[in-house]
Amino acid sequence: MSAPATERESAGVDSPGRARILARTLRQDRWWLSPLLTALGLAAFIIYATVRSFVRTAYYVADYHYLTPFYSPCLSESCVPGSSHFGTPFPELPMWIPLAFLSLPFLLGFRVTCYYYRKAYYRSIWFSPPACAVAEPHARYTGETRLPLIIQNSHRYFFYAAVVISLINTYDAILAFHGKGGGFGFGLGNVILVVNVLLLWTYTVSCHSCRHVTGGRLKHFSAHPVRYWMWTQISKLNTRHMQFAWITLGTLVLTDFYIMLVASGTISDLRFVG
Ligand code: FES
Repeated sequence: MSAPATERESAGVDSPGRARILARTLRQDRWWLSPLLTALGLAAFIIYATVRSFVRTAYYVADYHYLTPFYSPCLSESCVPGSSHFGTPFPELPMWIPLAFLSLPFLLGFRVTCYYYRKAYYRSIWFSPPACAVAEPHARYTGETRLPLIIQNSHRYFFYAAVVISLINTYDAILAFHGKGGGFGFGLGNVILVVNVLLLWTYTVSCHSCRHVTGGRLKHFSAHPVRYWMWTQISKLNTRHMQFAWITLGTLVLTDFYIMLVASGTISDLRFVG
């Protein structure tokens, strides 16, 4: 929440009334470890996702219809045959445009404006502040009241986009129940795709905006028993939102990596049926 204007003007460790402590912090523990690990984890995901989104190789397994989420939906004539589950309304794209150009900005916006990720990168990248009782290096604090951080208020709209993208990922996972010669098929890739999509849904519905959409602004829960029930369940998931945020980064990478290995012929999919 943003501080009132008068409070903001006098904010900071040098403001009147604050103890004169010259050291940046008096903490003796390894307070820097958590922000460091967070920064490394986020950087690893960003590098992997960026490279994979641009390479345009090994993102679709034609035999089993496995499509990595990093290329979904694939809507251009640059997509390999079969990977365009919703047709190809766009022409060939130059290499500097990722094939999932329609969904990636919304996914990125959803994650960047997420309440948990804000906390994570405000601490680990902007040092604002890096940890409790550790002074931040910035002289002024304006919170999320002006550009660029006022854009964080758009998170609720990115939530709706994320629901649509989760529906698309679900459709991709259903289409992947495909055997080599046609008909029904089931392999380890299906398990990975389904687990990934279930966890993506869990992350999406545990969102603070989703919690507000279902139960916010209600004056009388007793008059809205269904919304109250949904709000109660989402509130339980919401307490684990940070874990889901990290788990889904991991499952996205795992899903993409597995499909890359199968699509490139490095390994074969472990088949149970078809
Ligand atoms: Fe994290 Fe909405 S608060 S996705």
